[in-house]
Amino acid sequence: MFSNDESNNTSTNPSMQDVIDSCDHDRRFFLKCSLGTATLATFAGAGLGSLSTSALAKSGKGGKGHIHKPLIGFTPVAASTLPMTDAVTVPDGYSARVMVAWGDALSSGPHWDPATEMSEAVQLRTYGAHTDGMHFFPFSQSAREGSKHGLLVANNEYNDPGLVHNTLTYATDTMTLDRARTQQAAHGVSIAELIKPHRKGGWKVQRPSKYARRITGNTPMKVSGPAAGHALMKTAADPSGMVVLGTLNNCAHGHTPWGTYLTCEENWNGYFGTNEAALTQTPNERRYGVTRTGFGYRWHEVDPRFDVRVNPNEPHRFGWVVEIDPFNPKSTPVKRTALGRFKHEGAWVVTDDRDNIAVYMGDDERNEYVYKFVAKGKYDTRADNRSRHHRNLLDEGTLYVARFNADGSGVWLPLVWGQNGLTPGNGFADQGEVLIKTRQAADRLGATMMDRPEWGAVHPETREVYMTMTNNSRRGNTPVSSNNPNGANSAGGANPVVDASNPRPDNDFGHIVRWREAGNRVTATTFEWDLFVQCGDKSTVKTLGASYTPGEFGGQSVGYEGNINGDDYGAPDGLWFDPDGRLWIQTDQAGNAQGDWVNIGGNVMMCADPVTGETRRFLTAPPNAEVTGVVTTPDGKTMFVGIQHPGEDWELGYTQNSAWPDNGANGPTTQSVNGAAKPRSSVIVISKDDGGVIGS
Ligand code: FEO
Ligand code: CA
Ligand code: CA
Repeated sequence: MFSNDESNNTSTNPSMQDVIDSCDHDRRFFLKCSLGTATLATFAGAGLGSLSTSALAKSGKGGKGHIHKPLIGFTPVAASTLPMTDAVTVPDGYSARVMVAWGDALSSGPHWDPATEMSEAVQLRTYGAHTDGMHFFPFSQSAREGSKHGLLVANNEYNDPGLVHNTLTYATDTMTLDRARTQQAAHGVSIAELIKPHRKGGWKVQRPSKYARRITGNTPMKVSGPAAGHALMKTAADPSGMVVLGTLNNCAHGHTPWGTYLTCEENWNGYFGTNEAALTQTPNERRYGVTRTGFGYRWHEVDPRFDVRVNPNEPHRFGWVVEIDPFNPKSTPVKRTALGRFKHEGAWVVTDDRDNIAVYMGDDERNEYVYKFVAKGKYDTRADNRSRHHRNLLDEGTLYVARFNADGSGVWLPLVWGQNGLTPGNGFADQGEVLIKTRQAADRLGATMMDRPEWGAVHPETREVYMTMTNNSRRGNTPVSSNNPNGANSAGGANPVVDASNPRPDNDFGHIVRWREAGNRVTATTFEWDLFVQCGDKSTVKTLGASYTPGEFGGQSVGYEGNINGDDYGAPDGLWFDPDGRLWIQTDQAGNAQGDWVNIGGNVMMCADPVTGETRRFLTAPPNAEVTGVVTTPDGKTMFVGIQHPGEDWELGYTQNSAWPDNGANGPTTQSVNGAAKPRSSVIVISKDDGGVIGS
């Protein structure tokens, strides 16, 4: 039927190759001449550790003379190769059990019985489908008390209609408005109150809870920032252009220092379509991948809001970052348009030592871009988090898009109306239109086309930002093309050449880029970058194609074997630093241990030391599941991890690959006494048997 994470983009921006080719120097000479010593070491070596080492040296906590204490203390788990294990596995000395699953009650009322078809009414009071990014908000700022009681706020990215409606023939079934409403209710955000009444283990969902909440594809939300009330945001149902129903395809997330949650709208285009016999796409629809049938959800057949020829502006109201106050169950979520409109993976908020605020973001589609928003106001450490000062900090500021230069430097290019061709003559009437058409604006500025930017993570000490580039099947393809500066391309359709920041053609296994802002200020307009790792399979027999030149870009390019220092993995997606500086990496590949993945096995969560690059496999997922979403309690002793779409299979039947979690493989669930009716996305809770910090 459809794949939620399929790419859609075809634009023709100067890629890194164009930047290199436009340089007068010989490419390698240019690299050697332009790089500082620390960066040169990175380019010449395996690409591991150098930015972090130099940054830690400046802070007096690393580098020369500093003894780096080992961060990782567990013995890795085995890869889940064929025949796969239908369970979550964690290292010896750890326990993983199911905390909450799709359809479990959040407050009062019975749990959903997965043997039955889901209804809108049941879904509105139960945990949503396809759990994704999440954060734990403690009730107390004390690490001890805050690690016993808090709110788990989690995204519900999408749903498999067959699982929702107990059908294997959804594509041809009679479509009803009830079905569309149920699916819309399965999307969005779930807020669960979690409590640990006993010292060891014992986490549970507090039921009933006044904080329990579902925010869905139909929850009213306010639009704020420069695009609020814009002509392109107005619809027949909302002539103000200020009130949108719902949030969709909530992939990853962010959280602010002032205690709010950010949910990010990723593949929202897939919910739109038209009942007309054909759709001649507008340039804007083409650039964002709006098509006649979308991903096959069929909502437009029964809900005119999703028919783009009945409501052509409705798609403009999705693709934003939405701010939610989890502690006020009556609060209205706000779509913050200043942060741009694209296929938002997540939004990672960083403050610097002057309390400036930046939000790092990726647009997850092949050949799309990395963004940064810098707020005009500062975080006020003396003000109460709930003060008026913090309420609208994400409405005013500057949105930038990244250019990764071949010499290891980088530039943040401002998406500001009236500058750099973002003018009425080029289709940008005002700043609101620049933001509604963020992709086209970035095309015009010459941003670097990346290999699908997914999650970002910020090192707790160095403030270096790491971001996963999950894969790009179009990198290095012919005929060569890039994102067109006039924004006329279709989404996901370009064939960019390899470049220094995306050095492998047909990049199956992905890589992780990292950067450090000039002067360690989040307001900087320049940065330096390197590759933390190129993922791969040391045992693979697969070789890169003709467009691959080993050792190109000063040694940054390696083959499919990758350069991981430790256990192999590929398709990195989720990424998170724990407070001690361990880097947790979650993967999203097919998850069936076949094809390119016979050695790597199913999806995993890895733990890496950012200084040494040492990487160990911490967790394996059930068949055909993705691992996405990770956070610990403030004391680091409880970890919550999301397991999304176990067993996913559209063609052959949804129960054939997995019976997790109701097979009881990771402890009893609300349904395990009844046996498994269908696989369910779930959040698991991980503890260390000796009560220690996870990963240590
Ligand atoms: Fe929803 Fe890009 O992962
Ligand atoms: Ca993701
Ligand atoms: Ca994903």
